[in-house]
Amino acid sequence: MRVYSQKFRKEWLQVREFQGWLAEGSAADRARCTVCHKELLAGKSELLKHARGKKHRTLVARTGPSTLPDQSCLSSVVDEDGLTHELRIVDLRTDSVTQPSREMKKAMMEAQLGDDVFSEDPTVRALEGRVAELLEKEAGLFVPTGTMANLICVMTHCWGRGSEVIVGDQSHLHLWAQGGMAQIGSVHHRSVRNLPDGTFSLTELRGLVRGDQDPQWPHTTLVCVENPHHTTGGKAIPVHWMDELGVLCSELSIPIHCDGARLINASVALGASPARIVQACDSVTLCMDKGLSAPMGSVIVGTKEFISRAVRVRKVLGGGLHQAGMMAAAGLWALDHVAPRLSWDHTHARALAQSVCEEHSSAITVDLKGVHTNVVLLHCDNIRVNAKKLCQRLACVTDAESEELGEQTVVMALAISDTTVRLVTHGDVRKEDVRATVRKLKYVIREYDNMMYLEYKISV
Ligand SMILES: Cc1ncc(COP(=O)(O)O)c(C=O)c1O
Repeated sequence: MRVYSQKFRKEWLQVREFQGWLAEGSAADRARCTVCHKELLAGKSELLKHARGKKHRTLVARTGPSTLPDQSCLSSVVDEDGLTHELRIVDLRTDSVTQPSREMKKAMMEAQLGDDVFSEDPTVRALEGRVAELLEKEAGLFVPTGTMANLICVMTHCWGRGSEVIVGDQSHLHLWAQGGMAQIGSVHHRSVRNLPDGTFSLTELRGLVRGDQDPQWPHTTLVCVENPHHTTGGKAIPVHWMDELGVLCSELSIPIHCDGARLINASVALGASPARIVQACDSVTLCMDKGLSAPMGSVIVGTKEFISRAVRVRKVLGGGLHQAGMMAAAGLWALDHVAPRLSWDHTHARALAQSVCEEHSSAITVDLKGVHTNVVLLHCDNIRVNAKKLCQRLACVTDAESEELGEQTVVMALAISDTTVRLVTHGDVRKEDVRATVRKLKYVIREYDNMMYLEYKISV
């Protein structure tokens, strides 16, 4: 039951029939039954009559409480003067902020479990097999995080001493993994310049590869690629480039590892199967806890021999989990139910980017064509506004804004450089959140553009 009234909500919460069924809405005194999809006048007796009705009770018994959204999109906050405000908080910092849905939690609760260190957890084995099949590789291995997954793959490929890995200079492995492969794996890495589309020059790559001709050199043992490429804006790297990389690396006899943390997003954007994208890769990481919305877990895939060595590395890194099936069940559920809706996240990202473009602002711009998946990069002119200031502005609501827009929306975004703000859409961002964010972005952009107009007027 969704009740559009704060006035009555508290009172109704005490009524047994409504317990677990009430959700917040706007301030109008109306209600909508989310079980029967019926609009009601929100008088208490009216609602009670409906809740006690045969049709409603039968549907409740049949569907259970799962038709109710897990979380309300609006949060009530009390300000310093004791006034209650309804805030919409839209968290666009990244796609790992998602909460597991009620159905996903149910799947986790019902998962069959065993000790995965003895390879006895049937749910973990099911997920490993499922991802291996999806990516058309021989075997899979469940690990706690994407960072550990990539490190395990690097250490498994670089089994001997004096190994060197070539990575993109804007890749997660290079920028955000604390240099784990050097710190923990004793593996040297060298970077190749990432182009704005997330690829790199294959000629440049060829020039960086070092063999064992000179004892002063480390030996290039692995090339890493990231698809989609997150830091450059979630760019889906085309299949033909992945194939060209494959041809070059097989000529040089160097394996390829793909950090495919969000590979399913790339698959949606490219219209190619995930297996086709990574056909030329020897190992792949796929995260369950990004756009797929599971609470944790990643799966790596490769040959059976590669995975059996990876099991040893996982253990020494402390990644051998016991009853991990609960987490694997979330991953299985996500592949069935969240993966098919990922295109919505892409549509939402494009809607956000489009709204910024429409403003033709000189202070805040976006490359609309560069929005391939669920990431939008906002570029600040660094004169009127820089990335940090824009994030701060998006995270607060001014009185004038609240009055003009008639709503209070807090948008949480991340400054990834002095001039770039990142917005990432995900399953917990609903259509209404996107609409509210569009209104907020337009309002804030106009504020900065008017600032320029005022400065111009003063100087003239
Ligand atoms: C491309 C990419 N790879 C790997 C990771 C690491 O994943 P985790 O946070 O699970 O360690 C991330 C995290 O955001 C990522 O964006």
